[in-house]
Amino acid sequence: MSDPTRPAGPKIIAVVNQKGGVGKTTTTINLGAALAELGFHVLLVDLDPQGNASTGLGVGKEKRAMTTYDLLLADAELQDVVQPSSIEGLWIAPATTDLSSADIEMVANEKRSFLLYDALRQKSIDQYEFDYVLIDCPPSLSLLTVNAMVAAHSVLVPLQSEFFALEGLSQLLLTVRDVRQTANPDLRIEGVVLTMYDVRNNLSKLVEEDARENLGDVIFKTVIPRNVRISEAPSYALPVLEYDTRSKGSQAYRALANEMVALQGRNQGKGH
Ligand SMILES: Nc1ncnc2c1ncn2[C@@H]1O[C@H](COP(=O)(O)OP(=O)(O)O)[C@@H](O)[C@H]1O
Ligand SMILES: [Mg+2]
Repeated sequence: MSDPTRPAGPKIIAVVNQKGGVGKTTTTINLGAALAELGFHVLLVDLDPQGNASTGLGVGKEKRAMTTYDLLLADAELQDVVQPSSIEGLWIAPATTDLSSADIEMVANEKRSFLLYDALRQKSIDQYEFDYVLIDCPPSLSLLTVNAMVAAHSVLVPLQSEFFALEGLSQLLLTVRDVRQTANPDLRIEGVVLTMYDVRNNLSKLVEEDARENLGDVIFKTVIPRNVRISEAPSYALPVLEYDTRSKGSQAYRALANEMVALQGRNQGKGH
């Protein structure tokens, strides 16, 4: 999908929260699928050694000969790592447990924070005409996550609608500030999305009120409901949008994609 107002190259979004189990991988896969459904070309970069995004999109271990580890630390070419998923418009750079040693290996490299930045700016990325790159980060604020923030234009934070949800957010925002000061001054907050929202549970509502009061506009209007179809989809190696296209979860991720694209259009209109 060509948009004359878009700057050259894809918009790169790091999906970050140092807590595990808050919906990072689920959001990366399903927001990616929803953007692909809108006609965009999307690359999903699996930056978690657990490789859940790779598994969730049906890229089994036997199909991960070259991974994001090679991209970061073995000078791999992008086209050797990027592969199409079963979803039209959605590509993936998979990960394996190899990546768990990356943090230690990167420390010795003087460009340690810029390894993903450099990898995603290889000239060969142009052939794919990606509109979006979504980076699924590990549950930490490690050097891998810093690499994602340095490579990205913005940070998308999934927040689980649970008690203590906001805890840890200040640490995350400090890391964003650090990255801005040292490596990526233009890094923006794409937004915070509430996940696993349970309408029957008063706590979800309280967490939402608390989050909107404290963070205001940064919170997406769209909330992702707790939906069993969302949690079933990865075992069928499909985004929920394919597994049960009419489920509440699918509708929510479509709404999130639309909200994000609309915000981007508005910001560009303002010359941002
Ligand atoms: N909206 C949702 N409704 C129900 N289950 C969800 C939802 N979002 C995520 N899950 C489930 O919660 C677990 C953690 O989600 P995941 O995306 O893997 O989190 P993270 O990547 O932050 O560790 C997974 O089993 C996932 O299927
Ligand atoms: Mg994950």
